[in-house]
Amino acid sequence: MESALTARDRVGVQDFVLLENYTSEAAFIENLRKRFKENLIYTYIGSVLVSVNPYKDLEIYTKNHMERYRGVNFYEVSPHIYAVADNSYRSMRTEGKDQCILISGESGAGKTEASKKILQYYAVTCPASEQVQTVKDRLLQSNPVLEAFGNAKTLRNDNSSRFGKYMDIQFDFKGAPVGGHIINYLLEKSRVVHQNHGERNFHIFYQLIEGGEEDLLRHLGLERNPQQYQYLIKGNCPKVSSINDRSDWKVVKKALTVIGFSENEVEELLNIIASVLHLGNVQYGGEDSNACITSDIQIKYLPRVTLVLSVFACLHLSLTFLSLCVFHHQLMSPLNLEQASSARDALAKAVYGRTFTWLVNKINTSLTYTGDSSKNYSVIGLLDIYGFEVFQHNSFEQFCINYCNEKLQQLFIELTLKSEQDEYEAEGITWEPVQYFNNKIICDLVEEKFKGIISILDEECLRPGDASDLTFLEKLEDTVGGHAHFVTHKLADAKTRKVMGRDEFRLLHYAGEVNYNVNGFLDKNNDLLFRNLKEVMCMSENKILTQCFNREELSDKKRPDTAATQFKASLAKLMEILMSKEPSYVRCIKPNDSKQSGRFDEVLIRHQVKYLGLMENLRVRRAGFAYRRRYEVFLQRYKSLCPGTWPNWDGKLSDGVSTLVKHLGYKPEEYKMGRSKIFIRFPKTLFATEDALETRKHSLATKLQAGWKGYSQKCKYQKLRNSAIAVQAWWRGILARRRAQRRRQAANTIRRFIKGFIYRHKERCPENEYFLDYVRYSFLMNLCKNLPKNVLDKSWPTPPAALTEASEHLRKMCMQNMVWSYCKKISPEWKHQMEQKMIASEIFKDKKDNYPQSVPKLFVSTRLDGENINPKVVQALGSEKMKYAVPVTKYDRRGYKPRPRQLLLTANSAVIAEEGKLKQRIDYGTLKGISVSSLSDGVFVLHVPSEDNKQKGDVVLQSDHVIETLTKIAICADKINTININQGSIKFTMGQGKEGIIDFTPGSELLVAKAKNGHLSVTAPRLNSR
Ligand SMILES: Nc1ncnc2c1ncn2[C@@H]1O[C@H](COP(=O)(O)OP(=O)(O)OP(=O)(O)O)[C@@H](O)[C@H]1O
Ligand SMILES: [Mg+2]
Repeated sequence: MESALTARDRVGVQDFVLLENYTSEAAFIENLRKRFKENLIYTYIGSVLVSVNPYKDLEIYTKNHMERYRGVNFYEVSPHIYAVADNSYRSMRTEGKDQCILISGESGAGKTEASKKILQYYAVTCPASEQVQTVKDRLLQSNPVLEAFGNAKTLRNDNSSRFGKYMDIQFDFKGAPVGGHIINYLLEKSRVVHQNHGERNFHIFYQLIEGGEEDLLRHLGLERNPQQYQYLIKGNCPKVSSINDRSDWKVVKKALTVIGFSENEVEELLNIIASVLHLGNVQYGGEDSNACITSDIQIKYLPRVTLVLSVFACLHLSLTFLSLCVFHHQLMSPLNLEQASSARDALAKAVYGRTFTWLVNKINTSLTYTGDSSKNYSVIGLLDIYGFEVFQHNSFEQFCINYCNEKLQQLFIELTLKSEQDEYEAEGITWEPVQYFNNKIICDLVEEKFKGIISILDEECLRPGDASDLTFLEKLEDTVGGHAHFVTHKLADAKTRKVMGRDEFRLLHYAGEVNYNVNGFLDKNNDLLFRNLKEVMCMSENKILTQCFNREELSDKKRPDTAATQFKASLAKLMEILMSKEPSYVRCIKPNDSKQSGRFDEVLIRHQVKYLGLMENLRVRRAGFAYRRRYEVFLQRYKSLCPGTWPNWDGKLSDGVSTLVKHLGYKPEEYKMGRSKIFIRFPKTLFATEDALETRKHSLATKLQAGWKGYSQKCKYQKLRNSAIAVQAWWRGILARRRAQRRRQAANTIRRFIKGFIYRHKERCPENEYFLDYVRYSFLMNLCKNLPKNVLDKSWPTPPAALTEASEHLRKMCMQNMVWSYCKKISPEWKHQMEQKMIASEIFKDKKDNYPQSVPKLFVSTRLDGENINPKVVQALGSEKMKYAVPVTKYDRRGYKPRPRQLLLTANSAVIAEEGKLKQRIDYGTLKGISVSSLSDGVFVLHVPSEDNKQKGDVVLQSDHVIETLTKIAICADKINTININQGSIKFTMGQGKEGIIDFTPGSELLVAKAKNGHLSVTAPRLNSR
């Protein structure tokens, strides 16, 4: 509620005590109107709930709403019927005191709906077990049954309760509903036989006719047409748009089962309902003074359904004759038409009325708490009783109803004032007397023994002689004529007489003036049923009827209490019940007479505000202080308005509140400090504080926002940081694990390596296999990187022992590969060159000193080209193709004189030419051999056969290119194997059998000369390279 204080301009105040102008009815109604417009149908007057019927479904009765109000302090949430229900429930649980909720208001104001909402609230929110669930179901289901039998469509309400109801809900020590008990008050029985225009009989009649199954109707002898029944056609309103009798019938039947009615009981109950309808159709005729039944056809079902078959004749008789007991003689007196009709109606009313009471008792049996027999439960009572009624014509019923309301008002005043006074006392605040109207005077006027209206009425009913309604009125004038709250036509002033009938008396009720018409007062009060009709009913075989009409009643000679006295007694009992409980009040208001939503009829509402005594309520409540709250609640709400109490007050709560209100500048007359509460006298003081809070909220909100933003950013940062740390830690962990694994692997490798190294000479085994493999692997890898670059590169890594053979294979393969690729690359010329060089190598390598010097020098195809050879020589050679020519020196055989010559090689012979002359031709076939020294000189000898005269002996020649020249000769002559390399000297033939010798000696320079011994001496220089 505190939270809505701020919205007060739009939606008014949630508690009327906060109305500044609390004595103004206009302000009161304006507040109601404002709230009603916003669909806020509930408003408090202190702890009293004022409820305005919205005439539409508001979404305020959901399970969520129930939860919102559950266990919450009354003033913390907006006003609601659930708040009242919850408050009572909690008070019952915590204080252990029985509670009651009094719901009042005029017809159609929403009392029954309110009581149903409360019941639903308990059914949903209270703890439940399986057994409790059954009780909850029965409590809830008692409503449709009681409404079917006790509610009817009236002009004011389509579902008007035609009886008063007080229902006890019993809760066990755990707070679960475990039982219930219903007391009913003054059922409007007259409705069974008569309805005003536009009204209906009790719902059950229509439900049975509309919804009853064909078989059932046939059995009951009913037709599916309400127009057929006299008791249903009086109001000429069999159908109501807002009521669906057919579906309601199903609901009622189901409810009867839930409550625990057996099939037989339901059947017997329906028999009675049908019998009432049939009874209504009993018509009379004959002479006026001697009525007889003319509607035998209709009556034929009556005994069948009421199960008084055996006494059909009696019933027949009883409806037309009155049995009198005169001086112990039974006499039968015929009834006139009017008497017979009223006897019939009286029977119908009695049957229905007593059946209704039986029904309530039956429900009570099914709701009986079956637990501990000692009263070990708490109770919440719900009183749904008719509100103050003022019609154009008010009769005995209105008199009773309004009397009931007087009593309730009295109770209300007493209890409210008492609780107010108690609170002041408890808080140690001086009580200031409140001026209010005490309606005890009116209650006394009605109920006082001997002098009260009821006593006078009873007296008139009982006295012998011609008592009538008018004699009753006269008696009233005589007895209470002087009472300030009583007026009759006779006693009234001229002005009042105009609005009063002569057969009326007026009571000045607390809620207003009401004129009662005395006609029918005596009959209604007597509520008599002829003895013979009672007797017949006692004979019934219908079990319900036998319970309703028992024989003891017949033998009891004492006259039964009159209706008014019974009502007075039951009210006194009700007051006792209510006084023993802590009350809560729900005051229901009807916003308009047309059952429309959204229509706020000010006149009608003002009327109800007055009748409900709401202004009086408010005055009592506001007599002292408009607002009171416990210190902790007040301090909690407003502490931010004072630096001393903000953000927290550590000391005593009352000191905190004192500091706060002093800071706020409250004047001493504006408030009082109780023991646990602060009392604020004027709403304006509270509103000023509330406005200050509203302003303060903004700055607080900014601070809170800033604080929150900072906090949330910090949280965000912290979260990010933690995430980063987590990622870091995670990543570091990964790295460390990787490193550790690497180290472990490395250590393992080293360990295996060392072990392998130790075992390296052993057979391959697990200990050394890694090492051996590694050595192989590393050798191969090393080899792969360091292979020889070319064929001349002879480098080759040293293989491990295990790979020696493989290494050798590889080396060869590598060499072959290099050679192969080298060979693939060389040109034919170069190949030729190489072939020649190979041959030269074969012949001279390591045999002749100047061979190494010749290796890098390329062999040429010829050392003499065409220009250097004499054409005559070329001509002399004819077709012989010259393959090689080189200048040489020829040494004579005799004197060893050197002579320049040219050596020409053809395909078939070697030719020695001098200028244009062919001096000597040596066919290769005749060439016996070639000799040469092992030294570095260029002298060589071509050996020819000595017997060949043409040749004149071997030829001694010297070439500067001796290796090349001899290689060419060897190739051309195919004499590779016939070249002799001699050391020291060479012998040769000089012709005619003579032999020459050439001596070779190493020296410093080349010198060829004839020695003294006649040998040719050749000194060859020593070459460094050798
Ligand atoms: N809180 C509510 N929300 C919606 N509709 C409501 C509410 N209260 C009452 N009504 C409507 O008003 C009608 C009359 O209400 P209800 O029967 O409770 O009146 P009553 O005070 O019990 O009247 P009576 O004295 O004739 O029994 C209901 O049938 C329903 O349509
Ligand atoms: Mg009702």
